[in-house]
Amino acid sequence: MLEALGNLKRTNYCGDLRAADADKDVVLMGWVHRRRDLGQLIFIDLRDRAGIAQIVFNKELDPEAHAKAEQLRSEFVVAVEGRVLRRQKANPEIASGEVEVMATRLHILNNSKTPPFQIEEEVTASEETRLRYRYLDLRRPKPHRNLELRHRVILEIRKALDELDFFEIETPMLTRSTPEGARDCLVPSRIHHGKFYALPQSPQIFKQILMISGMDRYFQIVRCFRDEDFRADRQLEFTQLDLEMSFPRQQDIFEVIERVMERTCAVVGVQAKGPFRHLDYKDALGRYGSDKPDLRFGMELHDVTQFFETGREKLQIEGNVQAVVAPGAASWSRKQLDELGEFAKASGARGVYTVKVAAEGITSPLEKTLGPETLKKLAEALGAKSGDLIVAAAAKEQIEHNDTSLNVAGQIRLYLGDKLNLIDRSKWEFAWITGFALFEWSATDKRWVSAQHPFTGIFEEDLDKLETAPWECRSKGYDLVLNGNELGSGSIRIHRQDVQARMFKALGLTDEQARQRFGFFLDALTYGTPPHGGIALGIDRVVMLLAGEKSIREVIAFPKTTAAVDLMADSPSEVGTDQLDELGIAIKRAEK
Ligand code: AMO
Repeated sequence: MLEALGNLKRTNYCGDLRAADADKDVVLMGWVHRRRDLGQLIFIDLRDRAGIAQIVFNKELDPEAHAKAEQLRSEFVVAVEGRVLRRQKANPEIASGEVEVMATRLHILNNSKTPPFQIEEEVTASEETRLRYRYLDLRRPKPHRNLELRHRVILEIRKALDELDFFEIETPMLTRSTPEGARDCLVPSRIHHGKFYALPQSPQIFKQILMISGMDRYFQIVRCFRDEDFRADRQLEFTQLDLEMSFPRQQDIFEVIERVMERTCAVVGVQAKGPFRHLDYKDALGRYGSDKPDLRFGMELHDVTQFFETGREKLQIEGNVQAVVAPGAASWSRKQLDELGEFAKASGARGVYTVKVAAEGITSPLEKTLGPETLKKLAEALGAKSGDLIVAAAAKEQIEHNDTSLNVAGQIRLYLGDKLNLIDRSKWEFAWITGFALFEWSATDKRWVSAQHPFTGIFEEDLDKLETAPWECRSKGYDLVLNGNELGSGSIRIHRQDVQARMFKALGLTDEQARQRFGFFLDALTYGTPPHGGIALGIDRVVMLLAGEKSIREVIAFPKTTAAVDLMADSPSEVGTDQLDELGIAIKRAEK
């Protein structure tokens, strides 16, 4: 028989009980985590948000409660009245392990079907099953910890920005497309057939308009939507800390974010004090092979193209060759070297070339092709010592205006850093990346596209080159990176209407197209726009790193799979023809 909650009032969380609570009468509520029936005694591990408490039902002392406890199964929901007692033998595994509760009354509030997996810290169920039954998965301690951390991080952000005089202002969810380089999620209009709202890829234009409106300092914890290919650090919908300031120097924006990061990192006891180091984009790419370098270890890249000139044809190398020196890896086995080779190929390398440096001399499969003299010079130039392995790579694919060998070598650097345990996991290496080019070459579209977005500011000295030599224009953009992850991105913006119009033109939009897509914004810019700038951080990524997780799915309550599906709610889903008719939409079916 199920009972109503009635007037019962919880006094404590299970997981919060401590020795100091001994002899108190308590009312606990939660889920039956585990039941052990020893005949005379029944033990229940009762679980709630805070953790677990052990409840004892004694047949002799309280036959009625004991009889009811016999009916309990996993995940039943109960209220227990009883007295806290010190345990004879404490259980160090749980926080409330010094005490237990001798039950005097049991109220069964609800029953439960047998769950498809046991609610344990480490579940063995597949991710698919976990996401399908996300409400059960979320009962585990880890998601509780992660979502509490997320809450605390967002709270700290709000407090820090409030202290810095920022206002949190909401911008529309049903709006029109803002170019952030991904596809839009569209929502059909019922009233205006054939027209669509776009869900925001970011509030970029709206926050700039708020600066035109004189709001001076805006921020928002905001959901953004991007229909792009998923990865561990990307979701279809995700959350940004978006902010914008009027009359800022780049330095002012950096200081705001450094303050925010200092406060949020403190939530997990990590010290992150600004100023964070600055790194030029070209430097980051040249030294680490990445625009989001992991600075927790060195092992920098070296351009060794000159040493490979004579072997170019034989090795079928087209572009540049980059190398790193892997300390102590000269002793790597055949198998380890093969695995490295496979990894390099999968990362886009034409091949990986290794040179072992040992006390007895230098050995390498390249010996015949390049000659021992060249190899010796190579080792000397890189300062390789006995025991080191030089790992060089060239890219398979050449892309115009892009040295692909750097990206390939950057990935090899990360692989080696991991395998050789060079990454100090206790370090939090933040860096500002600046000095980006305003445009990058799109190999697919065969034209120059915005490296960030079309509102990114341009150095005044480069304005003349906007039409004539766009590739030489430097951007006022910056990224914030942490331990090899891009946390955020922003810029000082274009605030002059004439420059913004020229920018759209440089991106290949005709005046008409620019007016059609951004007319309202171009108009707004003509009414006294202050110089302004801002940034957006990926909250999911920040919390993922603070939680020590590898995927943002672990810090999102209801994430989608890599195939953009919500397995629990079964979305996306089909809709009825009446709904489609109302929207004036017909579905094209692929012919079978
Ligand atoms: P950007 O496009 O670089 O900049 O996005 C800012 C940050 O948002 C996070 N992010 C994502 N997180 C999870 N899933 C995704 N699909 C995803 N896409 C982006 C990243 C990224 O660094 N309007 C500009 C900001 C500005 O200029 O102020 C913008 O959105 O952490």
